[in-house]
Amino acid sequence: MRRSVRRAFRSFLPLLISSRPTPSSSFQTTFTRLSLLRPSSSTSTFQPLAAGREPRTKSTSTTTTEEQLISKEEQARILRTGQAKHRFEKAVRREDRITHLEGALATLSNAEQSELEGLRQVRDTFEEQYNPESFSEDHVEFKKLHNQAFVALTQYCQDQRQVNDDTTTEPVNVFFLDGPDGCTASALIDSGLLNPSQCYVANRHLSTCQALRTSGGGLLPEENVLYATAAEALTPSEEDDSPSFSDIPFSAYYFDGCGGFVPHIIDMMTSALLLRDDPKPPLAATTTIAVGFSLMGGNKNVIEKELEACRALAVIARTRGMRTLHVLDDPEKYGIPPDIPKTGGGTFTTWILLEPDN
Ligand SMILES: C[S@@+](CC[C@H](N)C(=O)[O-])C[C@H]1O[C@@H](n2cnc3c(N)ncnc32)[C@H](O)[C@@H]1O
Repeated sequence: MRRSVRRAFRSFLPLLISSRPTPSSSFQTTFTRLSLLRPSSSTSTFQPLAAGREPRTKSTSTTTTEEQLISKEEQARILRTGQAKHRFEKAVRREDRITHLEGALATLSNAEQSELEGLRQVRDTFEEQYNPESFSEDHVEFKKLHNQAFVALTQYCQDQRQVNDDTTTEPVNVFFLDGPDGCTASALIDSGLLNPSQCYVANRHLSTCQALRTSGGGLLPEENVLYATAAEALTPSEEDDSPSFSDIPFSAYYFDGCGGFVPHIIDMMTSALLLRDDPKPPLAATTTIAVGFSLMGGNKNVIEKELEACRALAVIARTRGMRTLHVLDDPEKYGIPPDIPKTGGGTFTTWILLEPDN
């Protein structure tokens, strides 16, 4: 399985590790287009009118059904296919043009000067925004605790294999989002539980990918870091030269994107975990899987946002014959520090287990 990823990666590798300056990405545009996973629209039901009163509306909850998730994932997959590669190629063309224009600065026409300015702005807009150096001590501690939770849950999922009679002896693999400082990768590897080849990352910034790879001073093998969005990296690739992690069985995921938009989180979850084959394979999920996700925006609507993401995950779990369980209700059971908070420094993070629904 890993060989196919490696093969695909090798042909794409020269592009990804080219020594060109960091290209920008049209990530935001891409994500806007990918934002298909909205929950079913909130419906309002009219209540019977009492004399002299305005009609009252009662909001029903916004739950995404299995059919909706499947159809949205289908649409999103079509959009994702080849997207990382096209984005990269576009960025390379932009860099080439910037280099060309910068080389002829003295002789540029007004139009060319404006073009150069515009191209530089596009590049700067999409530079990595995640800057752990700006974190307060409390926030550093918050992130550390959640990385510990990730390690503990990976251990738990590994241990559950025996409980679930899973005879596989393959090492567990994990997928996560990481910043340029590789804090999550360090937590996993320093714990001694995983070696670097079991850790897989996608990042939408080439500079961060480079920093995470051993060739750039990071901890991870080249082929374990994809320059792509998480959803793209977890979607099967239809192009030979676009690598994907879709055929790697992951025991734990940490979707720590720190965004505020729930459909993006659901997008990552469906690309990773939704079973949508028709007819469905026998629901014989025997492996416990951990899923963590973060939301930025502190307390604003965070309860509703968590609910929306967790309800979608419950539907996704059902497609696998599994049920969901909220880890942080009982952290000690999983070896997680008992006082771990869900919110800190404007970030919300939680952990869910998918367990066989016997
Ligand atoms: C919040 S940081 C991860 C922090 C890390 N888990 C830790 O504990 O230190 C998220 C990183 O992933 C990138 N990112 C966010 N959403 C992403 C997505 N959907 N796909 C790929 N990269 C993403 C961000 O640019 C950033 O580099």
